[in-house]
Amino acid sequence: MTDLTGRTALITGGASGIGAACARAFAAAGARVTIADLNGEAAAEVAAELDGDSWAVDLSDTVALRDVSLDCDILVNNAGLQHVAPIEDFDPERFALMLRVMLEAPFLLIRAALPHMYEQGFGRVLNLSSVHGLRASQYKSAYVAAKHGLEGLSKVTALEGGAHGVTSNCINPTYVRTPLVEAQLPGQAKLHGIREDQVVTDVMLAESAIKRLVEPSEVASLALWLAGPDAGMVTGASHTMDGGWSAR
Ligand SMILES: NC(=O)c1ccc[n+]([C@@H]2O[C@H](COP(=O)([O-])OP(=O)(O)OC[C@H]3O[C@@H](n4cnc5c(N)ncnc54)[C@H](O)[C@@H]3O)[C@@H](O)[C@H]2O)c1
Repeated sequence: MTDLTGRTALITGGASGIGAACARAFAAAGARVTIADLNGEAAAEVAAELDGDSWAVDLSDTVALRDVSLDCDILVNNAGLQHVAPIEDFDPERFALMLRVMLEAPFLLIRAALPHMYEQGFGRVLNLSSVHGLRASQYKSAYVAAKHGLEGLSKVTALEGGAHGVTSNCINPTYVRTPLVEAQLPGQAKLHGIREDQVVTDVMLAESAIKRLVEPSEVASLALWLAGPDAGMVTGASHTMDGGWSAR
């Protein structure tokens, strides 16, 4: 059992899906959690359930994040959003928004958290990347670009943080059973010319050796281990949980 007693963890996008599962796992292991999310009400609900704190924040407002300073021991860059469209139809504003939330905000939060982590000689940065940080899919230009960028940011953080007891890792799941996946079913069906009920089997699970969605609790279990004391030599890495997709 990983013990996080005495640790503080900030989890972005912690009001839903994978982030909420991580928050629950970390709190159960003894950490004090802060749920940072655009949906302040849902963040407050999860925080209340876990006796933690909440931070209603729009991570697309990257100018406001420049002056933030954080004193968490564990930072989970998890907030994210998806949009599917061919490049020629992809709204540039939406592309910029996705890059801000999923790449610029993680940079600014890492920047805000490192001074405290360096001072105490311990820190864990966990970046919720994706199999799309390592592989591409059609119609996901912004998401794939942001996640590939996050992979680079995570590795640089690992190199700079190593001497200070700070590790940085990416977690790379395939499709996880969360609202983010449910929300893209109609768009994927339209673009691929198939029915919504065919999207999971024909598109999402097409490349996986294991034909099922990942559960949020499975991702949280890996995140918990990476946040704990046994993972001190694990850094600069990308940890797949993709049912074998990237074995191809
Ligand atoms: N669900 C999947 O299949 C899957 C697979 C691989 C990677 N991921 C990654 O895991 C992470 C979490 O995904 P999820 O499936 O749990 O999504 P989700 O939609 O269930 O939760 C995402 C959370 O992020 C928050 N958020 C979105 N925009 C924000 C903003 N501007 N500021 C603050 N918070 C914001 C949302 O309010 C929401 O609570 C994402 O980075 C996603 O890319 C998800």
